[in-house]
Amino acid sequence: MVTGGAGFIGSHLVDRLIKDGHQVTVIDDLSNGKMANLESASKRGDLAVVEADVSDYPAIEPHFAEVDWVFHLAAKAAIVPSIQEPMVYHRANVDGTVAVLEAARAHGVKRLVYAASSSCYGLAEEIPTPEDAPIRPMYPYALTKTVGESYVQHWSNVYKLPCVSLRFFNVYGPRASTSGAYGAVFGVFLAQKLAGEPLTVVGDGEQSRDFTFVTDIAAACVDAAESDLVGEIMNVGSGNTYSINYLVSLLGGEVVHLPKRPGEPDSTFADTTKINRLLGWTPKVSLEDGVQIMLDRIELWRNAPVWNESSIAEATRDWFEYLSDSGTDPKTIDQSGAD
Ligand SMILES: NC(=O)c1ccc[n+]([C@@H]2O[C@H](COP(=O)([O-])OP(=O)(O)OC[C@H]3O[C@@H](n4cnc5c(N)ncnc54)[C@H](O)[C@@H]3O)[C@@H](O)[C@H]2O)c1
Repeated sequence: MVTGGAGFIGSHLVDRLIKDGHQVTVIDDLSNGKMANLESASKRGDLAVVEADVSDYPAIEPHFAEVDWVFHLAAKAAIVPSIQEPMVYHRANVDGTVAVLEAARAHGVKRLVYAASSSCYGLAEEIPTPEDAPIRPMYPYALTKTVGESYVQHWSNVYKLPCVSLRFFNVYGPRASTSGAYGAVFGVFLAQKLAGEPLTVVGDGEQSRDFTFVTDIAAACVDAAESDLVGEIMNVGSGNTYSINYLVSLLGGEVVHLPKRPGEPDSTFADTTKINRLLGWTPKVSLEDGVQIMLDRIELWRNAPVWNESSIAEATRDWFEYLSDSGTDPKTIDQSGAD
């Protein structure tokens, strides 16, 4: 079972599971995912798609019968809309996670892998960031993913549902969203490059991100499902961090600079010692190779929105309004297990 399987990362995971010969059921409400993302998998193997909202327990529960592994990726996954519509994010990412956990428990699934997010670390002070770094979600998306992760840990502890949580760092690759809200830098840059418009670099471009290629993420999910780990939380990153200026140099093109945004880290960089030690997982695709794959498929972004300085200023207005003090007073959620 892959929830969110019609989305960007979920569909790559489905491809991998089908390639490995598994029977796969996808639950997705198609709010952001697309059936087209599943075309090749459905031709190649045994794939069923259920169009349903994961927070609708009666609708999803029967589909968990005889499922061995659940990969829970369904979520609303953008920052700005989460600031504007926190209840929508809570319903999909928290209520949805509880419903999936309960359905998994009702049918005694053997393992549940949760797609957690590096955004839980907020403005991390320790770089590379280990799993026991302070948890400081800076906006509702990060908060709902963190709360979802807490539920997953709780179901693992209390109900003995064998769960593993993987904190993904800045995932990129083909099928990354080409529509909708202003968001991940790759899609923004590729659409701008195709349209011959300048690339909109936030701040001085020296901020860096742990860009992780999507097939490496899918491999980590499968490794976690095949393991006998229970209740572990692991970072999944590229083992490196790359400045936006370096990404620009790989993509090529003119640049225009935008104001630096509050609540955004100067660097994201996963400490991947734990997943390497427990699962033997290492990333396989370098940023240089990954960018080349993206450039080879740049036509996918032909109809994507082309953001510019003024439309980004408009789209991020709430971001500046609500997050402007957040960097100076980070609230840490105590997940240390202390009473
Ligand atoms: N992309 C990243 O860099 C990144 C980083 C960290 C964590 N994650 C997590 O990985 C997962 C997948 O993210 P993605 O980047 O592929 O995003 P995506 O939007 O492409 O995929 C999410 C999928 O979930 C579906 N969905 C949303 N709400 C739903 C609901 N209520 N019921 C059923 N389906 C629903 C969407 O239609 C979509 O297909 C998410 O849980 C996200 O939080 C992503």
